[in-house]
Amino acid sequence: MCGIVGYVGHEKAVDVLIGGLQRLEYRGYDSAGIAVLNQGGMHLARSVGKVRQLADLVYRDWDAQFIAAARVGIAHTRWATHGPPIERNAHPQVDGAGRIAMVHNGIIENYKALQQRLQAGGHVFKSDTDSEVLAHLIGEYYTDGNDLLRAVCAALGQVEGTYGIAVLACDQPDRLVVARRGSPIVLGLGHDETIVASDASAIVAHTDQVIYLNDDDVAVVGADGVEMRNIHNVPVSREVSRIDWDAKAAEKDGFDHFMLKEIFEQPEALRNTIRGRLDQRQATAIISGLALSPREMADIQRVVLMGCGTSLHAAMVGEYFFEDLADLPADVEQAAEFRYRNPIIQSRDLAIAISQSGETADTLAAVREAKHKGALVAGVCNVVGSTIARETGLGVYLHAGPEIGVASTKAFTSQLLVLFMMALKFGRCRRLSREVGLGLCDEIEKIPELVRKVIDHNDLIAEVAAAYSQAEDFFYIGRGYLYPAALEGALKLKEISYIHAEGYHAAELKHGPIALLQENVPVMALLCDVPGKEKTVGNVEECKARRAPVVAIVTEGDEAAAEYADHAIPVPRTSKYLAPLVSVVAMQIFAYHVARLRGCEIDQPRNLAKSVTVE
Ligand code: AGP
Ligand code: GLU
Repeated sequence: MCGIVGYVGHEKAVDVLIGGLQRLEYRGYDSAGIAVLNQGGMHLARSVGKVRQLADLVYRDWDAQFIAAARVGIAHTRWATHGPPIERNAHPQVDGAGRIAMVHNGIIENYKALQQRLQAGGHVFKSDTDSEVLAHLIGEYYTDGNDLLRAVCAALGQVEGTYGIAVLACDQPDRLVVARRGSPIVLGLGHDETIVASDASAIVAHTDQVIYLNDDDVAVVGADGVEMRNIHNVPVSREVSRIDWDAKAAEKDGFDHFMLKEIFEQPEALRNTIRGRLDQRQATAIISGLALSPREMADIQRVVLMGCGTSLHAAMVGEYFFEDLADLPADVEQAAEFRYRNPIIQSRDLAIAISQSGETADTLAAVREAKHKGALVAGVCNVVGSTIARETGLGVYLHAGPEIGVASTKAFTSQLLVLFMMALKFGRCRRLSREVGLGLCDEIEKIPELVRKVIDHNDLIAEVAAAYSQAEDFFYIGRGYLYPAALEGALKLKEISYIHAEGYHAAELKHGPIALLQENVPVMALLCDVPGKEKTVGNVEECKARRAPVVAIVTEGDEAAAEYADHAIPVPRTSKYLAPLVSVVAMQIFAYHVARLRGCEIDQPRNLAKSVTVE
C-alpha cells in the first residue's frame, strides 16, 4: 500500500531515497517516482513498474554532479486508487507552476469539487489522480516568500479524506513539510539528517530514534531536526521512540523470499511473543499492555474481535478461545462491516482489534467506532507505534519482528498465541482452575518446538505441493478450531499462487459447495486428532466419492491417514486449542511451494498490498 520516503541531510538524497523505496517495496505498488532539490533547482522522475526501473532511469539520465550534490528530496511507490498506473499518475505530483512537488498516500475524497474550483481559477491538471489537487492547492497558497508550512496547513484545511504527505518547494532546498491523517508517517532523527517514511523499515538503517506522527500533525523537516505543529499551525510535542529491531531483521538472510524466511522464523517469533508473559506460579499470562485489574477483567461481559483478512481468521480462533477458556461471550466482526452496520456495543464490552500492520484503514475505523460507543478497546498489533496500537491505548504487541512478505505468516501464529494468552488471563480471573491453567502454560511453552517440527517437514510438504501445483481450484475444509484455519490456509494459497482456493466448514460441503467437486478439484482436509475429526473424515469420504483428490493434515502417527487421503502431511499432536497453529504452518509451507512451482511473485503478489490503508 504505497510508500513514502523523504530526506534532508548530508548524504546523497537520490541514494537514500531509492534505497528507502526498495525497503518499502514489500508494501505493494504499481509505479514509483522521485523529486530531488539542490541549488540548481529540482529534478523529478517517475516510472511505471519496479523501483529498479526508476533507479535505472535516474542514474542513467540525471547529471552525475547533480546527484552528488543534492541533499533534499522525496520519493514514492504508488498503489493506484484514482487513475491507472501510468507515468503521469505516478508521484510526485506538482503544482501548475512546477514549484511544489508532493507525494501522497491515501485518498482525497473531495478531490472532484476541489479540482473544479481550481480549474475555474485557471489551474490545468495533468494527471487522473486525486492527489494532484493537493499539489495545486499548496501551490495556490504558496505565494513568493510565503512559508511552506503555512501553505500546506491552509491546503489541508480544505481536504476531506486520508493523507500521508511529504512536500518540497523549489526555493526551499533545505527542508520538507510532512503531514498525516489516516496514513502513517514516521520521522527518523539521525545525526545531521532526518528521514521521513511510511514505516520504520526505510529508516532503521539510518537511525533507531523515531517520531510517529499522529493524525493532523504537520512537521517542518530539516537536517538538524523537526518542528512539530498541528494542522492549525500550533506547536505540538511528540515523544521520540526507539525502533526495537535492527536493519538485518528486514533482510532476506539467504532465503529466496521474505515469506519463506518468515515461515521459518516462527519458532523464534513465537518465543519472542511468549517471552516474559507466562506466570507459572499463578498459572496465568502476564500481559502488561492489558492494564486491567482482576476486578475490571471480571466485569467484562463480552469480547468483540475485529480484523480483516488473516487477522479476521485469527479473530475467529480467538472467539473460540474466549468462550472455551474464559466463559466469555465472544463475537467476531469483519472490521469493514462493523462501523456501517450500527453494531450494539455496551460499556462492559471489550473490543479487540487485530492488525499486524496496525494501519489497516477498515480496522482503524472499527476501533474508532467501538471507542465512540464506549467500549474498552485493545489492540493486538505487530508494528510498534502503529496507529491502531496508539489509538487503542490497551493492547499487546506480537513482538514477531517485521513481517515483510505480503502474505501474513508469523504474525498470524503470533496473533493466535497472544489471543490464547489473553483468554487464559481472562479465564484465570473467572472459572479457569489453576490446574488447567498450568497445563495451558505448559502447552504454550512447547509450541515453538512443535512448530519447528512442522518446518522440519518442509521437503515432504514440497513434494506434496508438486502433485497439486497445476490445480486451478482448491477446497480447504475443517471444523471447530480448524475451521478458521481452513479459511486461512485457503487465503494463503489464493493470494500467492493465484489458484482459486476456498475454505469451508467441513459440514457445509453438502449444502452446496460439493457440487463443484470432481477429479481436478483437490481438497485440503484438516484432520488433526482433535474433537470433530471423525465427522470430518466422513466429509472427506464424500469428497472422495466425487473423485476429488485429498491432501490431509494429520496428527503424527495417524495410521489411518492413508485410507482417506491421497497425501498426508503430519503435524505434532496438540490440544484442540493449538491445532490451528501447527496446521497453518504446514499450509503456509504448502502454499509457498505451490506458488514457487508456478513461478509466482511470492513476496509481492499482484494487486496486493502489505498494509491496506485505504477503505
Ligand atoms: C494476509 O496474508 C493478507 N496480506 C491480508 O489479508 C492481511 O491479513 C489484511 O490486509 C489485514 O492486515 P493487518 O493484519 O495488517 O490489519
Ligand atoms: N490516491 C492516490 C493515487 O491514486 C495515492 C494512492 C496511494 O496511496 O499510493 O495516486
